[in-house]
Amino acid sequence: MIPVITIDGPGGTGKGSLSLRLKRTLGWFMLDSGALYRALAFSVSERDVSSQDEEGLLEVAQSINVEFLDDGLQSSVLLNGQDISNLIRTEDIGTLASKLAASASIRAVLLQKQRDFLKSPGLVADGRDMGTTVFPDAALKIFLTASIEERSLRRLKQLKEKGITARLARLSKEIAERDSRDSEREESPMRPAQDAEILDTTGLELDEVESLAEKLIETRFGKL
Ligand code: C5P
Repeated sequence: MIPVITIDGPGGTGKGSLSLRLKRTLGWFMLDSGALYRALAFSVSERDVSSQDEEGLLEVAQSINVEFLDDGLQSSVLLNGQDISNLIRTEDIGTLASKLAASASIRAVLLQKQRDFLKSPGLVADGRDMGTTVFPDAALKIFLTASIEERSLRRLKQLKEKGITARLARLSKEIAERDSRDSEREESPMRPAQDAEILDTTGLELDEVESLAEKLIETRFGKL
């Protein structure tokens, strides 16, 4: 069986940064499932499909082909060949992604697309329901948490680095709204799997979170 490590949790907990570091250390593939939902939101808004048009939304969901490139220094997200790495990082796209992600039929289409990323020698998958729904048999499941204040500050910094301006209070409100939408939806809500290791990253630097995760990996897979 090809090994999978899942990294779930709300936005701004450092899932993406941790996943990227772990996939590089392990030499595995990576699935940023949030980017898949964001790519869908981006396509839907580009094509001006109404959020009421269920058939239209499903058509877009089926048509998107997302790839993750990483040369060890820089990682990027391609949608049907176009580099959309920065275009999908706005809070507007995040909010639309989270609204679309509440639909059972959309999740069903994206489920298989996500599982198709599983390739030898292994996969690091990050998102909201990687450990509960997409890869329930994953060898190691990590669930990251952090205070809303810290998550908002981290998001603000990330956006600034990408040249996107945002206001902290608005960002914080949007993150909180997205948290409740993601955890209260009926379909595959965000929650830790029963066998997940929960890591609170509040007050921790990425290096510290990485070494905690590496200890968990060594416990499961042996010395790195
Ligand atoms: O992690 P990120 O902020 O990029 O995710 C964007 C949105 O996509 C989330 O707020 C969530 O609604 C949705 N999502 C999801 N399931 C996943 C990953 C993301 O519903 N596995």
